Amino acid sequence: MSLSALKTFKNPRAKYNFEGRSCSITGVGSYVPARVVTNADLEKMVDTTDEWITSRTGIRARRVAASDEYTSDLAAHAATRAMQKAGVKPEEIDLIILATITPDMPFPATACIVQQKIGAYRAAAFDIEAACSGFIFGLEIGQQFIMSRTYNTVLVIGAEKLSSIVNWTDRNTCVLFGDGAGAAILQNRPESHGLLTACMGSDGQKADLLSMPGGGSRCPASTQSVAAGLHFLRMDGKETFKNAVQAMHNAAKEVLRRCELDITQIKCIIPHQANLRIINAVSERLGATPEQVFINLDRYGNTSAASVAIALDEAVEGGKIVRGDLVLLVVFGAGLTWGAAVIEW
Ligand code: UT7
Repeated sequence: MSLSALKTFKNPRAKYNFEGRSCSITGVGSYVPARVVTNADLEKMVDTTDEWITSRTGIRARRVAASDEYTSDLAAHAATRAMQKAGVKPEEIDLIILATITPDMPFPATACIVQQKIGAYRAAAFDIEAACSGFIFGLEIGQQFIMSRTYNTVLVIGAEKLSSIVNWTDRNTCVLFGDGAGAAILQNRPESHGLLTACMGSDGQKADLLSMPGGGSRCPASTQSVAAGLHFLRMDGKETFKNAVQAMHNAAKEVLRRCELDITQIKCIIPHQANLRIINAVSERLGATPEQVFINLDRYGNTSAASVAIALDEAVEGGKIVRGDLVLLVVFGAGLTWGAAVIEW
């Protein structure tokens, strides 16, 4: 349903445009590394089959960055594309928020490295860590700065080189993940609505379901930690799956409720691309039709913080979202964390 059609019977979203100020996404961009690793390639590496991976996850291929290509490189490419589409110059950016669980290094922030790479010298820059939910957390943080009049132009990036923390001998996890980056420029555009609302949630009681135990202050890198495989991502897949369906459904319902919208009014649903069975279960519970749901995990697998950002860019580029459309983003990840957002494009 278009904006004009909605306005004819009610416009609850007027409340998201405060005193002529709103937070619009004026450009999105994404980047994935060139190297494609197919399920057939993985059959040669671990005891798995294309049939198992496709039927259990929906994933057919993923991208893997080169050894000299880092999260900051993927992020800088995506950011440059988003800036071009928004018509924004690097020096106009006030703030860079980069969501990742695979920073170039523990510090400095990868956002600062990206700042240098894209030449956004005026910007403040920091990383956030909310795993696969990071991009929506970044959107909500960026929105707060814009609505509070602190900043006018915010660059939000989700970027991951998950291949650097995946155990390529563990069939339970290595088939699931991929590398990539997506970025969005947030700006005050008083004449439009933009990001209507976003919600975030966390449950630290379930932190152990999905984690990388090594490399932090609890377990610094040592020969023992490396030998024990503590620097690889670990996941309790079944429990994570159950929590993902529940949390994504609840988050989506919450943002729809806040905007007084029905699922039928949403043109495009962009869920976190972790597993097709999760996406289908959430979509069914929401009462969405398959036509509403955007899926690209068959080509990229789970790219964590980059996932919905890449999908958003591809949905816009592919003409699935046009100006005035209502878009629902919904995510879930380690922490546990979850979130959802409604955007009027
Ligand atoms: O992005 C953050 C959120 N992440 C997620 O939401 C991921 C959530 N979890 C999942 O997507 C699914 O749980 C998985 C895809 C990870 C696993 O699917 P599952 O249906 O839960 O399978 P399972 O872990 O119960 O494993 C079933 C069987 C096991 O064999 P046994 O014990 O039944 O003999 C596994 O060892 O499948 C086996 N298996 C595999 N077989 C072939 C696990 N991985 C593979 C594999 N190839 N790659």
